[in-house]
Amino acid sequence: MGFEEMWHDLAPVGRSDASGGYFRQPWTSAEGELRAWFAEAATARGLRLETDGLGNQVAWWDAGSGPAVLTGSHLDSVLDGGAYDGPLGVVSGLAAIDLLRDRGVEPARPLGVSVFAEEEGSRFGIACLGSRLATGSLDWAAARELRDRDGSFLPDALADAGLGEGGRWQALDGVGCFVELHVEQGRDLVDRGAAVGVGSGIWPHGRWRFDFTGEANHAGTTRMEDRRDPMLSYAMTALAAHKQARLAGERATFGRVSVEPNGTNAVPSRVTGWLDARASTGSALQELVEVVGRQAQERAGRDGTALEVTAESVSGEVAFDADLAARIAADHAEGDWPVIPTAAGHDAGILAAAGIPTAMLFVRNPTGVSHSPAEHAETADCLVGVSALADTLERLVR
Ligand code: HGY
Ligand code: MN
Ligand code: MN
Repeated sequence: MGFEEMWHDLAPVGRSDASGGYFRQPWTSAEGELRAWFAEAATARGLRLETDGLGNQVAWWDAGSGPAVLTGSHLDSVLDGGAYDGPLGVVSGLAAIDLLRDRGVEPARPLGVSVFAEEEGSRFGIACLGSRLATGSLDWAAARELRDRDGSFLPDALADAGLGEGGRWQALDGVGCFVELHVEQGRDLVDRGAAVGVGSGIWPHGRWRFDFTGEANHAGTTRMEDRRDPMLSYAMTALAAHKQARLAGERATFGRVSVEPNGTNAVPSRVTGWLDARASTGSALQELVEVVGRQAQERAGRDGTALEVTAESVSGEVAFDADLAARIAADHAEGDWPVIPTAAGHDAGILAAAGIPTAMLFVRNPTGVSHSPAEHAETADCLVGVSALADTLERLVR
């Protein structure tokens, strides 16, 4: 079953009729369907499936010997996400194995396709939760305390999905290098007129929770000067974050907010906003978050509200293995593939940080839009991506 058939099978899973976007949050029925689909696709190819307690999966082509070559990505999505962010890398990995077999390639080393759980952190708040636990960069003791926005604990969500516990995953012990193919989440390849690119690195980025507490009161009878309104402190902070990021040439987003009690005719008691901040260097990121935090505290002081800022998920700067990137990008019929940075986080960043030589391949996204139903990649470019991944894997398994 080729790329297009696999893609067609996945298209309806977790898709919203209203928006055309995807709701494939981890350990829910849609994502469970995807995990089962991957197991079936692996078995259909005679690949040996390994799954850990969190639902991370690797389908192994047990060929040759020595350090394994691993490719893959994730199947979970952000809320109302696009079709390609994650699944493109997984489906392309399986299709690349099909292509290598069509070419009669006999790998000199084991070759695997991986799926890491909760890459988006859209349910339990920590980006790349599956690969962080599998590489040991996050302990299960901390992860087991995580709760989703409905208050469900991670262990209960896993039990409901018929899974167990997360933790360091021995399946990664023999991995010599990891290559993740991913739809580009920007316009670099479009603007260059290139179908495929190679990743140079990932910007440092993170998520900080801003808890503003004030005083609940009546929307009508409370004089303006008597209020302690956390909505004001939050609103000014969102504006300040945008302004500071623009001034610094970095990125800051408040995309998620919760209001208590969220009533129309009451001054709220509490407003929580989540800042997603990203910058080209670690020091620029630290400076950006500090400035926004300081201005938020000052505003809270003027509003008579209190602010607590908590770092929830932080990812350091990633420089992919430069030699690996150069080897992958060079000597192609159409010329060298461009080597480009990204401000989007990936499991590849977690594996690189864990010491596994890692590379990324990007496939052109004509809209440049991502984390949205508008995310897109032309089938022709996806097939170029599969061929590029197969070429890359062939070089690596020789
Ligand atoms: O948020 C990110 O950068 C990635 O898409 N998980
Ligand atoms: Mn994403
Ligand atoms: Mn992704």
